[in-house]
Amino acid sequence: MIKKRGLDNPREVRFQDYPDDATIESRLKFLVNYAVLAPSTHNTQPWLFRVLNHTVEIHADRSRALPVLDPEDRCLTISCGSCIALMESALSVFGFKWTTTLMPDFSNPDLLARITVRGEADKADVDTELARAIVSRSTIRRGFMNLPLPKAFLDSFDSDRDNSADTLCAIHDEEAERLILQQTCSMEEDMEQDIHFRRESESWTHPIRSRSRDGIPEKPGMSTPITVCWSDQDAGTDTTRLSALCVVSNTPLAWLSAGMTLMQALIEASRFGVNAAMINIPSEAKHLADVVSRLTSCNGIHVLLVRFGRPGRKVITQRRPLVDVMLHPGFSR
Ligand SMILES: Cc1cc2nc3c(=O)[nH]c(=O)nc-3n(C[C@H](O)[C@H](O)[C@H](O)COP(=O)(O)O)c2cc1C
Repeated sequence: MIKKRGLDNPREVRFQDYPDDATIESRLKFLVNYAVLAPSTHNTQPWLFRVLNHTVEIHADRSRALPVLDPEDRCLTISCGSCIALMESALSVFGFKWTTTLMPDFSNPDLLARITVRGEADKADVDTELARAIVSRSTIRRGFMNLPLPKAFLDSFDSDRDNSADTLCAIHDEEAERLILQQTCSMEEDMEQDIHFRRESESWTHPIRSRSRDGIPEKPGMSTPITVCWSDQDAGTDTTRLSALCVVSNTPLAWLSAGMTLMQALIEASRFGVNAAMINIPSEAKHLADVVSRLTSCNGIHVLLVRFGRPGRKVITQRRPLVDVMLHPGFSR
């Protein structure tokens, strides 16, 4: 059998390599290459997959948890929610119809989603633009380009006045934006003083990571993303837009659903060539959470700040090969 590209390195996945004459199970396995391109805190990739016949299960891999930054696995679950939404997007690319059940088994809290394929469209219907948007999305870490965002993106962002929870809540007011950015920088400075936080973060972020298939590669001496992505100097211009991800409650189901909302927004932005910087608002950062709640119209708990812009120089994070994230069908967890 000819070895298809993308099967050992999800970063190289190409829609042209889709094995359209293979069984549904083999095709679903191919699509996992797209799902693992989801964002995750420190690029921990805390997910596992089981693909059997017409079904894909997505499980939490809690051995990849971050006990200091994320003691309740909230970020871990949001990351897995993003991965579920990306699996759904990959199914859309290739014309599948499916149903998703979140947390289908109360006796197994690590089983986060079961996606079952219900039908497929014509071979000709591949959504190549969506495939490109998935592959070209990445987190902005080295600052934004000093260029206005595309008008279509700005129009859709600026018209978003949703004030429900479980959404990405746009921040429209310049003063509010400045205050949130200033508070974000001071929260990060405080966290940097905490040796436990620093050591956990450094164990996933250092130069050697450039050869690893997880974590974040950082060149020594580069300024940290906080100083370049969260300064208030671009506030009020058309080069960036700020929003806050909100959850209805602090429960795994709400976190999953928020992760899915986040992923959909990131993919929509990526269609316009727009990416985002992200920063977690930990539960202990009460002050920042209070400021964000006061200054936005969403009535939920704010868990993540998302700042959209055009990426300057991209930092490409790697992904583990599928063999590392696939559960054997007979292996029970
Ligand atoms: C729930 C969640 C929280 C995140 N928090 C941060 C953060 O606090 N700071 C940061 O620089 N990136 C954060 N990120 C982005 C990840 O670092 C990024 O997704 C990961 O390194 C993979 O890189 P990629 O998104 O470019 O594929 C977060 C992502 C998620 C899903």
